[in-house]
Amino acid sequence: MDLPTLKKKLLEERGFDPHQYSDSFFKRRLATRLRAHAVSTYDDYALILKKDPDEYDKLWSALTINVTRFFRDAIVWEAIEKKMIPELISYKEARGEKCIRVWSAGCSTGEEAYSIAILLKPFAEEFTTFIYGTDRDARGLDRAKEGVYGVSSLGEIKPKHASYLEHSDGEYRIKDEIKRMVKFMKHDLLEDKYFKRIDLILCRNVLIYFKKEAQEQVVSNFCESLKEHGYMVLGRVETIFVEAKERFTPVDLGKRIYRKSEQH
Ligand SMILES: C[S@@+](CC[C@H](N)C(=O)[O-])C[C@H]1O[C@@H](n2cnc3c(N)ncnc32)[C@H](O)[C@@H]1O
Repeated sequence: MDLPTLKKKLLEERGFDPHQYSDSFFKRRLATRLRAHAVSTYDDYALILKKDPDEYDKLWSALTINVTRFFRDAIVWEAIEKKMIPELISYKEARGEKCIRVWSAGCSTGEEAYSIAILLKPFAEEFTTFIYGTDRDARGLDRAKEGVYGVSSLGEIKPKHASYLEHSDGEYRIKDEIKRMVKFMKHDLLEDKYFKRIDLILCRNVLIYFKKEAQEQVVSNFCESLKEHGYMVLGRVETIFVEAKERFTPVDLGKRIYRKSEQH
């Protein structure tokens, strides 16, 4: 059995479409499952899937790399805090708008969504703030809803931001005042409907898993999701393709912060 046949089998038997993931990423993750069973061919792996249907779940988990932490890539968060948020707030104040809507897409276990909530907390009295944290992986979302983290999740958090976490017995628990600001829900970027009227989309370290066409579709959908003047932040290893360049204006290209261009 070759790779396309195995992919077709996964689609037909489980409705999971691996074609959207880049071949190199998919092959690397699949190889970890072959190694786990000490097999070396896709035929042998197909037999394992037949004998043990739980293996499908294990393969999905292998495809869902959900490493994350608070304020991951501190210099990007510095720009979000010092440049982007003040700009957004002034824009809203100038128009008398009273609501801020943020979407952390592919939020994994929630640290990114809580990081932006921490930065927006000082404005929460002036603005009604909605933060949506979404992911296709339900297990990560359960942990996000719990909001309890180990020290390794703290990453580059500054002491003033860490004060929104309660520390006890080696665990860090997000305080209720921040937890209340975020709503977590399951959402597949390749299949589900997108939110509308969003002011800021954080979608970091997610697009890398997708093929070019899927990345383009996701970025184009984001453009539709954003309000006029809305922001989009991607991961530092990610970039937008030529086709999307007209639709987004770089605010800080190196940090992958973009604003929706006018007339789009
Ligand atoms: C490396 S984590 C990124 C977490 C966070 N955004 C960050 O940068 O730290 C990638 C996340 O993308 C999610 N993901 C992968 N494919 C997805 C899809 N089709 N729709 C929604 N989320 C997806 C994974 O489940 C995983 O939690």
